[in-house]
Amino acid sequence: MIATNYMVTRGGALTGHLTVPGDKSISHRAVILGSIANGKTVIKDILLGEDVQMTINALRACGVDIHRDGSTVTIEGKGLRGLRKPHSDIYCGNSGTAMRLLTGLFAAQNFPSRLTGDESLQTRPMLRVAEPMRQMGANIVLSERNSAPIEITPTDRLDAISWKLRAASAQVKSAILLAGLYANGKTTVIQPEETRNHTAHLLEMFGWPTQRDAGEISVTGGASLQGQHVVVPADFSSAAFFMVAATITPGSDITLNRVGTNPTRTALMDVLKSMGANIEILNERYVGLESMADIRVQYAESLEGTVVNPDLIPRMIDEIPILAIGAACAKGVTVISGCEELRVKESDRIHSVVTGLEKIGVSVSERHDGLVIRGGKIRGGTVDSFGDHRIAMAFAVTGSVSESGVEVLNCDCVKTSFPGFATLAKNTGIVFHVDGVEG
Ligand code: S3P
Repeated sequence: MIATNYMVTRGGALTGHLTVPGDKSISHRAVILGSIANGKTVIKDILLGEDVQMTINALRACGVDIHRDGSTVTIEGKGLRGLRKPHSDIYCGNSGTAMRLLTGLFAAQNFPSRLTGDESLQTRPMLRVAEPMRQMGANIVLSERNSAPIEITPTDRLDAISWKLRAASAQVKSAILLAGLYANGKTTVIQPEETRNHTAHLLEMFGWPTQRDAGEISVTGGASLQGQHVVVPADFSSAAFFMVAATITPGSDITLNRVGTNPTRTALMDVLKSMGANIEILNERYVGLESMADIRVQYAESLEGTVVNPDLIPRMIDEIPILAIGAACAKGVTVISGCEELRVKESDRIHSVVTGLEKIGVSVSERHDGLVIRGGKIRGGTVDSFGDHRIAMAFAVTGSVSESGVEVLNCDCVKTSFPGFATLAKNTGIVFHVDGVEG
């Protein structure tokens, strides 16, 4: 396969209105709940990236009828106990969300399953999800390195647990809640910090009550889910690339349409504003329990460095790479700490960001739990995505403010979360050249 590389050169103010694809986290969850609900679920504006396709394929392999028409997906729900044994391994590709959420779901089924993934996913930590499942009574075997493949064999019964998360993780929380739907009694997840709460929102919408208290969420087994009409807001994490691009590129003025603004996701906006960014929230409204808004972003002449403390990280876990790009263009020093979780994402994102910034002439130092960036000029150069979609898109954005342009290698991975990124970037005004095939 020929690798896709990006080349972005100086200039290219961003203007106009744009809509980024649907929220990845909500899309995965809506597909899973729709599949085990009674009756029909229609999901509008779903993300059709490769990651969500993995979840769709997995549930189709379990006998669920999932039909796609443009960006609308219709699911004939099988009910809580209606999934059937897949004929082969469940391939989760690059998607940690697919793998961890499906582990929660499959731990409760009366058939065996085996979950695999690509090279990157097979190195990611899975004990964090296997441990609570085992405590519930599930039979789960991991590889020697405590990662995928994940082998699950049926158990006679699942018992409810109360589980305190060791690291802030919405994926682990969601896996436990999904297994909890099938358990005897009340399952509680205690979380040190609030993480994205889309699973709770969708469970409520599909008619399964959740109990939410400070730092805790519980579900009680024995209820049922009813099919729903779900409208997926545009993904804040995808919009983030354009927010920062417009903030750092002179002459920019864009409006991002219908972006999800769930407060468990939007810390990047707070941090950018505190640095001096011009961001305005317009027409805030709700779709189901999720808030969304149009977000106007204009070029910010004087962006200042900042300190990002650990308590903010769970609400901006996927936006650190693009924040680092904003920081590289700001005056002064930015210190980001408490984000050691980034080391076990699609790549070691602390290392990927530090390596890329050094390659384009930015002064940066790596810490075990974060990075320190000294803002200044972006010289330009060639960086590697490390096969990580968010690294590829973050560095593409730096090209517009670089002296000599930025080339980003190995950008096929972008299609996992943001199909059409390069086309949208070009249409918005970025001077963007794609070498190879855009996903
Ligand atoms: C996600 C949770 C986060 C995030 C990922 C999506 C989710 O991962 O990084 O992109 O949909 O639950 P962790 O739960 O590992 O923090």
